[in-house]
Amino acid sequence: MRYYIGDLKNHVGQIVELKGWVYNSRSSGKVKFVELRDGTGMVSCVFFRGECKESALEIFEKLSQECSVKITGIVRKHPKHENVYEIGAQNLEIIGASVDYPISPKEHGVDFLMENRHLWIRSKKQMAALRVRHELIKAIRDFFDGRGFTLTDAPIFTPSACEGTTNLFETKYFDEKMYLSQSGQLYMEATAAALGKVYCFGPTFRAEKSKTRRHLIEFWMVEPEVAFNDMYDNMDLAEEFVEYLVQRSLANCAEELRVLERDLSKLQPVKRPFPRLHYREAVDMILKENPQFKAGDDFGAPDEAIVSAKFDRPVFVHHFPAAVKAFYMKEDPKDPGYAMGSDLLASEGFGEIIGGGQREDNLEILHKKIHEHGLKEEDFKWYLDLRRYGTFQHSGFGLGLERTVAWICGLPHVRETIPFPRLYGRSYP
Ligand code: 4AD
Ligand code: MG
Repeated sequence: MRYYIGDLKNHVGQIVELKGWVYNSRSSGKVKFVELRDGTGMVSCVFFRGECKESALEIFEKLSQECSVKITGIVRKHPKHENVYEIGAQNLEIIGASVDYPISPKEHGVDFLMENRHLWIRSKKQMAALRVRHELIKAIRDFFDGRGFTLTDAPIFTPSACEGTTNLFETKYFDEKMYLSQSGQLYMEATAAALGKVYCFGPTFRAEKSKTRRHLIEFWMVEPEVAFNDMYDNMDLAEEFVEYLVQRSLANCAEELRVLERDLSKLQPVKRPFPRLHYREAVDMILKENPQFKAGDDFGAPDEAIVSAKFDRPVFVHHFPAAVKAFYMKEDPKDPGYAMGSDLLASEGFGEIIGGGQREDNLEILHKKIHEHGLKEEDFKWYLDLRRYGTFQHSGFGLGLERTVAWICGLPHVRETIPFPRLYGRSYP
């Protein structure tokens, strides 16, 4: 039988054999301690002369940070702490040595940690962030699967641009030129016409030549698309979704959020309804604090922070100027020049986590927009077909997984929200 640290509460009084890595070891008088981790948790293994084999005490002296070991001992309740267990160790074997492990408990610079990302992920906070990421991935799937959506994943190799041509990754597809997908949206519009409520969830790629705390070159995005929804239905769906993600993290990741020292009082108010501002209202707020801002421009990170600081939960900004948004966004016939889309800004200045809106469903207008944006019509022939054969009002959005993990974990930089980040200037390890 294999025993795991995470299951010890079911084995109190039994002798178990654990395999894992030494997080820490120390001696205090006659007692020696190993803090052991095995991926399911951490446990203190206590070595007492007389209680454990004499050879175990000799081997103890050879332990070093992150060497892999096998420890046999009896499971006990911790004498002081409720729901904490410890091992009264009897035997110790080293499986694999670890000489001069580079990451010590002292402070390291970020470049050093990034260079050693493959080892850094063994640290407590990094493990906690990766577990929150995992919980969010499951929550995303459960949310949509539980509401009648069908997962229809989009291709990664794409012949055309979705989010503008400036940050496309070009690659070869035999003799043809192709791009890595920036978004699965256009394909979701097609599958929505087949299956009604659909989503895709996968990696997307943007060659953004900027080093910011929020931009990854490769990031994961979930993109629902719903036939016959308008931009307001779309915001309703987005806020129900984000409330679900936050409340589920609070319920299921309490321990991880504790390790991350997250201030939970900042997440608890994340409940529907979220405030909704017209772009012009948001601009008025921004101009009071940043008079340099030019009405008509897209928001920079400091502008987003000004707006989100006014609220205790995420805030929608809708009706951005059509000129700063993608070709597919429907312009509001009742508010000319403004697009029927919205961004959702996370609270505490964590920035935009969702972008989306209502799609242009008129063939002629879409045709014109494709030309105005300098895109090649032949690449979008199939996309225009969706307007030729039973066009339909429809809306959707994309939520960036890593920015959402960063916000929920309270991590200032997205590099710690994905196991192996791809950043501008970093593609190793
Ligand atoms: O606002 P964006 O560009 O919207 C789209 O791609 C739409 N096609 C989505 C849709 O309607 N189906 O990106 C959506 C979200 C952003 O709000 C942000 O959370 C995330 O994707 N995102 C990034 N995350 C990390 N690094 C980057 N470089 C990102 N670019 C966008
Ligand atoms: Mg956006």
